[in-house]
Amino acid sequence: MSAPKTITQGYQAHVSELQSRWENALQAEGYDAALIHAGSKLVSFLDDYEYPFRCNPHLLWWLPLTHHHDSALLIRPGHKPKLFYYQPDDYWYLPPADPDAWWAGEFDVVPVRDAEAWKQAGINTQTAYIGDAASLSSAVDGSQLNPERLLNRIHLERTRKTDYEIACMAEAARLGAIAHTAAEQAFREGLSEYEIHQRYCMSIQLVDAELPYGNIVALNEHGSVLHYQAHEQQVPMDVRSFLIDAGATVHGYAADITRTYAARAGEFADLIVAMDTMQQRLCAAVVSGLDYRELHLRAHIDIAGILKDFNIINTSAESAVETGLSAVFYPHGLGHYLGLQTHDVAGLIADVEGTPIPRPEGHPFLRLTRNLEVGNVLTIEPGLYFIEPLLRKWRENGDVAAINWDKVETLTPYGGIRIEDNIVVTGGAPLNLTRDAFTHTGAL
Ligand code: GLY
Ligand code: MN
Repeated sequence: MSAPKTITQGYQAHVSELQSRWENALQAEGYDAALIHAGSKLVSFLDDYEYPFRCNPHLLWWLPLTHHHDSALLIRPGHKPKLFYYQPDDYWYLPPADPDAWWAGEFDVVPVRDAEAWKQAGINTQTAYIGDAASLSSAVDGSQLNPERLLNRIHLERTRKTDYEIACMAEAARLGAIAHTAAEQAFREGLSEYEIHQRYCMSIQLVDAELPYGNIVALNEHGSVLHYQAHEQQVPMDVRSFLIDAGATVHGYAADITRTYAARAGEFADLIVAMDTMQQRLCAAVVSGLDYRELHLRAHIDIAGILKDFNIINTSAESAVETGLSAVFYPHGLGHYLGLQTHDVAGLIADVEGTPIPRPEGHPFLRLTRNLEVGNVLTIEPGLYFIEPLLRKWRENGDVAAINWDKVETLTPYGGIRIEDNIVVTGGAPLNLTRDAFTHTGAL
């Protein structure tokens, strides 16, 4: 496996940093070792077909074993981490390649043929076991399996990305920008959702299972379904708009990018420009110390202002936020932490106890409520949609006169708008991985 220099250069420092963070966490929680299990293959009911394998993100934090079920890593203070590298004798499936990759020098690598070879590490009451493999839960005491305080501590640590992690995410953003550019081109050529999705994957040579989440490829009103999952093969009679929320992964690290396009000039295209300007203002406001909830609420005010400017609503922005009207058009959160998981861990907790940091009242879907810190990577993804069930509910229970229904009727066939970038919190100005990547691919 080869990796760009920016990634490999930072790797040794990344592993030493993790060793030190884990040593501190183990000591604080009274453990003398941790064994992190990759996970096992999941097989479908009454058959022997497997679901795509997703490795335990705690293992991926250390090394990029994205396809390596049943490997395990033993971490002990003062010792090089020991990797039980599972390489079965298999002729049904291709076993993992020999572990002679760029990452291998940081580990004491033990190739093993037995999926339960990790038990040679010795089951010990002072060892914490991290993972969800059935073999783990049957072999170790429940109190040692995924101890909550230790996990909270590690989850909080994972919110501060190292240079290696940011390099992986910058590379994922670069791939994402290339694929988004190819997808926009396919949309302009008049292709179907299915064909656009294929173009996306082909342009960066990833298959569906390697994407961080199912691509959302939505023409026209499909853009109003927030996690739209179909890939329609028919091209609509009249193609008006295109919303694509699609990412890429590099060594397990995700990009999570959304863009919206209009087929032609007009009011919807103007609305995209207004949303894009506003989204970039929000991105620029990402600084260390900021309470992310405030930024989410500011997005509501800004979106309500756009709704008013475009004559979609008849009330002031402040009143639209107060009455919940802005949430009819923008019903999700502003964003989330990003990393080894698309919705990365610890976005809603204050401390190792897991004390929740509450969401603002009336905002049940916000996934990040913390004060931002240097090294955090997060998304900024405001949206504005014409969602039939939410509009109907408002018509039945809300202030009907607050919405300009003629305008809504004109815009509903366009679905909606979401624009999403991935931002690194630095000691100074925020680093926008996504805009930088689009700039370097030559796209907007
Ligand atoms: N991109 C999908 C999500 O953030 O939920
Ligand atoms: Mn997202």
